[in-house]
Amino acid sequence: MLNFTYNIPTKIIFGKDELGRLPKEILLHGNRVLFLYGKNSIKKTGLYDKVVSLLNDKGIFFKELSGVKPNPDISSVREGIKIIKENNLNFILAVGGGSTIDCAKAVSAGANYTGDPWDFLLGKAKVKNVLPIGSILTLAATGSEMNGGSVISNEKTQEKLAFGHPLLVPVFTFEDPTLTFSVSKYQTAAGATDIVSHLLEQYFSSHNDDGLPDRLTEAMMINVINYAKKAVLEPDNYEARANLMWTSSLALNNLVTYGKKHGDWASHGIEHEVSAIYDITHGAGLAILFPNVLKYYLNKDIAESLPLTKFLNLGKNVFGISNDDEKAAALKTIEKIRDFFDTLDMPSKLSDENVDDSKIDVMAKGAARKGTLGYYHMLEERDIFEILKKSV
Ligand code: NZQ
Ligand code: ZN
Repeated sequence: MLNFTYNIPTKIIFGKDELGRLPKEILLHGNRVLFLYGKNSIKKTGLYDKVVSLLNDKGIFFKELSGVKPNPDISSVREGIKIIKENNLNFILAVGGGSTIDCAKAVSAGANYTGDPWDFLLGKAKVKNVLPIGSILTLAATGSEMNGGSVISNEKTQEKLAFGHPLLVPVFTFEDPTLTFSVSKYQTAAGATDIVSHLLEQYFSSHNDDGLPDRLTEAMMINVINYAKKAVLEPDNYEARANLMWTSSLALNNLVTYGKKHGDWASHGIEHEVSAIYDITHGAGLAILFPNVLKYYLNKDIAESLPLTKFLNLGKNVFGISNDDEKAAALKTIEKIRDFFDTLDMPSKLSDENVDDSKIDVMAKGAARKGTLGYYHMLEERDIFEILKKSV
């Protein structure tokens, strides 16, 4: 294991009927709030009214920014910063899924910055002087509720870029599984796919076997596989929703990477290029791409240079696969991952999501903008092009 400093500062308030604690938690950090949310799900479920009445009851001043889109656009970030500056706000409350929380982080970074917030995505501005963020999670998927990462799109330039900083980790997150009862079957499945994908990305590090981080990852994967279909079939199954919610946070808050150099992250890199151009749900994109990236790693030349231990451990410990032929066991493991996505009715081809091959050269170029992509195996632009071609 490599050296590390364990530091996961988000206070998680987990469970039902805890939301009454919201004003107290906010007042520990600020008293003039930007209340950020998506389109209309929180109004439909009544959560909006609850939050407003809790803020009003304690006389907490707030302004709203609504309409944050899935794959949030930089225009919402600019709007949020404007509202903060005009009203001298000092706290951001994000209520929603990963898109809303990611938007809140970019707003937070830009609140005391004089330039354009897209600079943070381009790596041209340093994150400092942020505003604290608190969140109420309504969709189990990204882990944004407990990490410092943010993914923002720019519709004008058709880019979707990520940035992050420890200062942007939410100071608190309310996780009430009942708030996810209303999530559609499709978004529940896409969320579960995203959680498993985060675990896989971090599992496929460049070491042979990473001991405890890998065992933790396997346990979380087994858990998501156990509960995902249940949550899709029984939307108000509390145990299923609770397990997905807590696993979504633990799957991407650094816990399973402590002690490792880095995970792979090629599938996410490619997916972000697809959803930068097409209106595709992040988890659905991953369901299509991840098995194809893993299969690509098993092609003859690459597999010879890679230890297959990761595939074999994953196959044995998560899917119960034993086979003396290592390559066959690795392939079977990928099949099992695909089977899991199939049970959730996630797409297997880009064409299922109306994405054709006309822009795969643009996407491959974008994914390789920093040189190579991925750490388990480094992919060049031509490799990414091949993966996308096989995924259409
Ligand atoms: O906008 P509303 O009306 O709220 O509807 C949302 C949205 O349409 C709906 N929804 C959310 N909670 C609901 C609900 N519908 C009914 N009941 C509820 N309780 O679900 C739709 C999707 O929401 P969104 O926030 O976009 O989903 P998700 O949490 O999957 O976030 C996806 C975004 O996060 C980024 C993705 O790239 C994508 O832009 N990611 C962020 C990461 C991070 N910060 O660490 C890592 C991830 O890998 C990912 O890249
Ligand atoms: Zn993801």
